[in-house]
Parts: sequence; C-alpha cells; structure tokens
Amino acid sequence: MHRNDLCWCGSGLKYKRCHLEFDEKIDGMKLDFKRGQVRPPHEIIKTEKDIAGIIESGKINNAALDLIAENIKEGMDTLTLNDIADKFIVDNGGIPACLNYAGYPKSICISINNVVCHGIPSEKTILKSGDIVNVDITTILNGYFADASRMFMIGDVSDEAKKLVEVTRQCMELGINAAKPWHFLGDIGAVIEKNAHANHYSVVTALGGHGVGKKFHEEPFVNHIGEKNTGMLLVPGMVFTVEPMINAGDFDVYTDEDDGWTVYTKDGSLSAQWEKTILITETGTKVLAE
Ligand code: MF3
Ligand code: CO
Ligand code: CO
Repeated sequence: MHRNDLCWCGSGLKYKRCHLEFDEKIDGMKLDFKRGQVRPPHEIIKTEKDIAGIIESGKINNAALDLIAENIKEGMDTLTLNDIADKFIVDNGGIPACLNYAGYPKSICISINNVVCHGIPSEKTILKSGDIVNVDITTILNGYFADASRMFMIGDVSDEAKKLVEVTRQCMELGINAAKPWHFLGDIGAVIEKNAHANHYSVVTALGGHGVGKKFHEEPFVNHIGEKNTGMLLVPGMVFTVEPMINAGDFDVYTDEDDGWTVYTKDGSLSAQWEKTILITETGTKVLAE
C-alpha cells in the first residue's frame, strides 16, 4: 500500500493520513514467531463507524440484560426469560443473534449450574432456589453484533456456588485489565488461569472468547488460559469478548447429543461464566457490552 492510496480500513482517507503510522508501529514490534506473536489481520481492525455501530448494539444488549435482571426469579421457566429478551431486542430495532445461528433454536442462552454454556431456554426448565444461572445475549443492530453475559443467583445459593460466581467475575475483570494495546492476547488467558487455579477451579478450554463486529465470531479466538507475551498482538481498534467459563471441578465438558447445543461439565460440577465485549483503545480498553 502506497502513502497516497486510500487506506485499507475503508475510512476513505489517504493511507498516509490514516493507518500508515499504525502499520509502521506494528512493523517496529519485532514479533517473536516462536511465541506465536502474530500481527492482527487488517480485516479485524474496526473503523470509528464500526465502533459506533457496536456501541449502539451494545446499548440494546446491555438493556436486555438489565431487563433480565429485573425479571429473573425463582419458579420462572427459562422460555419466559427468552421471550422477554427477544421482544425487547426486536422492539428496539435489533435482531437476537442466537436465533437460527447455526441452527440454534432460541434467541438467548440460559445455562444453569452444571451447564457450562449454550443452554436452550425451555418452558420445562424452571428456576429454583440455589441455582446459579448464566444468561448470554447477543444483539445485532444495523449489522453490528454485541455479545455479553451475566450470572444470576436464585434464592438461597450455597457459599461454594457464590464463591464460584464471584471468582469467575474476577477472572473476567482481571482478563480485561490485562488486555492492553501493544501487549499480547496470551496475557489475558494467563491472568485468568492464574486466578482460577489459585482458587482450585479449572478453566474451560474447549470454548473461548472471540472477535466480534459485523460477524458473531471473528478472529481472534480468545483462550482463557495462556502465557504472557504470547499470541496475537493487541492493537487499538480490535474488538473481542472476554468470557471465561470456570468450573468448580474438572475442565472437561461434553455437548448434549440430543439437542446438539447444551454444554455440560463432564464431572457434573458447577460452572460459571461472565462475558463482556471490549474494544482495545490507544490507552487501554473500553467496554462495549456488559
Ligand atoms: N453468545 C455465545 C458466545 O458468547 C454464543 C452463543 S451461540 C448460540 O459466543 F448459538 F448458542 F446461541
Ligand atoms: Co461470546
Ligand atoms: Co455470548
């Protein structure tokens, strides 16, 4: 790309007035191939317009999760929660991203106790006292995706389950705080893994976070275990989720053969997850959906 060409990012500006300096900074990084240090591909670097789009989508997604927080209670079936979120997103001009995604049958995911993720809402699934529940919602607005999930505790929850929920939230926050421009993706997994293991929990590795933008799942894959200074270089304009799934027992999981979606802990132990969509900025991170 020459200085006077239009920039690869689609801003309409000349390269020299847009991402030239940015590319030169990356060129100067002397990436260590042996540590898996790679440049982020141009396709995943968001423009200001993209970021504004994800922010707007995130506002609806956040409000949908707030609405779940207001409504979730003991004795309720999970399909009712699904329908509340679906209606809210549609009423606000959005599309619930999960519905029909790779054949997924409902609009959101609700994962209870030993369900790690991708629990399918059902009128037969009734929330009971003691349950720990992850509600994961993704909204598409004007073509832009925003993805987040929160944990909810129903009625009287055991101290062990409460601790798992809190440590998992801490893992997500530590991971987000470790995400810094001109540092590496592996830094995120490293701090999450350390905090989970310090509490004698395990980290699910079969699934992870992901880039998000005009598609639901983009590069990079965000592993929630890892080593500092390894993996993709983090640069301003990257948007991805941090969504650790932490198990009280072993990290092994399996997928329900009948529904093809529900992911369970193999040993039946409890699992928790929190998720935010974040943007890498010039100075740190900005949360776009939570
Ligand atoms: N929201 C999930 C994630 O965090 C993906 C759910 S895909 C579905 O990546 F099809 F199960 F809905
Ligand atoms: Co996600
Ligand atoms: Co999600």
